Amino acid sequence: MRVHVADHPLVTHKLTVLRDRGTPSPTFRALAEELVTLLAYEATRGVRTDTVRIETPVGPTEGLALSSPAPIVVPILRAGLGMLEGMVKLVPTAEVGFLGMVRNEETLEPSVYAERLPADLSARQCFVLDPMLATGGSLIAAIEYLFDRGARDVTAVCLIAAPEGLAAVERATEGRDVTIVLGALDERLNEKGYIVPGLGDAGDRLYGTVANL
Ligand code: PRP
Ligand code: URA
Repeated sequence: MRVHVADHPLVTHKLTVLRDRGTPSPTFRALAEELVTLLAYEATRGVRTDTVRIETPVGPTEGLALSSPAPIVVPILRAGLGMLEGMVKLVPTAEVGFLGMVRNEETLEPSVYAERLPADLSARQCFVLDPMLATGGSLIAAIEYLFDRGARDVTAVCLIAAPEGLAAVERATEGRDVTIVLGALDERLNEKGYIVPGLGDAGDRLYGTVANL
């Protein structure tokens, strides 16, 4: 598994505002989108391309075009939806599939409640979007889902991860082609499975209903 943690002052600046408990939902949504566009630049470094010949007004040259089939972007509902626009801005030809997952806040086990994906993902490059990688349960289940359908490689873009969750994903995906791109790797999980210092409940901060942490 490859892990890339963004090391850029703009990413850290935007994450700092995102983490602040006083940041309201409209600002939080705008920042999440901006952050994903910055992280997507790194996440798409390995996107498959073909060499093409074109004519500029001055003469012939060679360039690159994204290969077919187009990559597929999979936001994990609900919070991953807040990352979708930022990603497709950078890769407008990508297709989009949806996975709805929720973590049971007692057992911390994830379950799938909605799914809208092509049945056959063979040879597809998949990009999973989920702002929080906490215990890793949700991301592991999402990655397994995609490989079960034939995905060739999976890149996950997360805003913040806990070391415990990252290690769990690494163990669970051994031997698979998996890349994780992060805005930040935080200190730890707390006793409720929340990332510390983190930003709280990403879904609630994007869309409302604040939980008691
Ligand atoms: C959050 C988050 C991840 C998951 C991470 O979703 O968006 O999907 O928790 O936790 P894990 O790594 O321990 O599995 P949540 O289940 O709260 O649903 P939501 O997006 O609808 O708020
Ligand atoms: N889900 C969140 O939204 N935040 C966390 O810190 C952990 C899981």
